[in-house]
Amino acid sequence: MKKKTIRDVDVQSKRVLLRVDYNVQVDNGRVVDDMRLVESLPTIRALRDAGACIILCSHQGRPKGVDHSLSNAPIARHLTQLLGIPIKMTVDCIGPEAEAASCALNPGEILMLENIRFHAEEEENDDEFSLALSRLGDIYVNDAFGTAHRAHASIVGVTKYLPAYAGLLLEREIDYLSRVTDDPERPFGIILGGSKVSDKIGILEHLVGKADVICIGGAIANTFLKARGIDVADSLVENDGLAGARYIMALAEHTGGIEIVLPSDVVVAFGNAEEGHVRTVSVAQVPVNWRILDVGAGTVQSFATALQPVKTVVWNGPVGLFERQPFDRGSLAVARILSELRATTVVGGGETAAVVNRAGLASRISHISTGGGASLQMLQGKSLPAVDVLLDA
Ligand code: 3PG
Repeated sequence: MKKKTIRDVDVQSKRVLLRVDYNVQVDNGRVVDDMRLVESLPTIRALRDAGACIILCSHQGRPKGVDHSLSNAPIARHLTQLLGIPIKMTVDCIGPEAEAASCALNPGEILMLENIRFHAEEEENDDEFSLALSRLGDIYVNDAFGTAHRAHASIVGVTKYLPAYAGLLLEREIDYLSRVTDDPERPFGIILGGSKVSDKIGILEHLVGKADVICIGGAIANTFLKARGIDVADSLVENDGLAGARYIMALAEHTGGIEIVLPSDVVVAFGNAEEGHVRTVSVAQVPVNWRILDVGAGTVQSFATALQPVKTVVWNGPVGLFERQPFDRGSLAVARILSELRATTVVGGGETAAVVNRAGLASRISHISTGGGASLQMLQGKSLPAVDVLLDA
């Protein structure tokens, strides 16, 4: 990474304003999935070991003004358990109380600010708000990869007033994702799923020249199949994406040597998929009024064969309706394929990370990104506002 990180600065007895992305689901006061918290622990521990006073800053949800159901308090409680040390909370994320609390911290102590998005000025990247926030720290560290694509006050504006460094999670995310986007070790494979073709076209446009194999599943495959003239009956198709799909297939053909693997068999359902209304059929035989909801076993096998030689692979988007059984099988099988490859394996996007976690294979993947929108932006070759504003190395 070409930016300064926390390894480049002495934080002893300094107040470090640490932007994290703890935008996680909280149910009845309990954190449902703590991956983003766990992934931020190396930075927090490194800063504590180096004698910093830590002020954690995060948003949660998209509140319109103060909304106590989106308080950061349950997250602070969960983090207290993870770290085994008490974490104090502020009532507001700026102002005299927060400033006094930040000044009262001893080295190694941690303060959590209330949800930064309780102030509309955060998303407006307001200058006065950024200045008020900067009064809480001597140094700013960004470890919020999940929010790195947002040009908000606690991400961009505040860096006008404080020297800005990358945290260890941000550094790891950028390193792995740029390994994929800039100079992947080849053969290089891409697996794309999910439902929005428009998002994925950007990834393909950016990476198609570097790829050797592109496996496509999920609802976006329906659009590609339709673009090839296959009747997908009632399946979800993004008609606006048909031209993009044709363009990508033509580009792959023109570039030569790129294998695009589309589903050959699919799991289809009728109505609300009651028993007897789910079958596996060839893509040429999707019955009238039925919908494709997952890839079939034959397709999984073709993905596995095509991906066997790759040295780098990136996966973004489930290849079926993962949240509903039995349409999760294709995605779980893809997670298994990745876990068995002798390659650098990178998984991007919240849903795709959830697949790998549900399959119990997270430890067998080289890198699982904590950012959905941010990783998508990187895979599309776009820069991230949060990274642009950090001090150059
Ligand atoms: C995320 O979960 O994708 C990030 O925290 C960004 O959240 P946002 O889409 O509400 O800006």
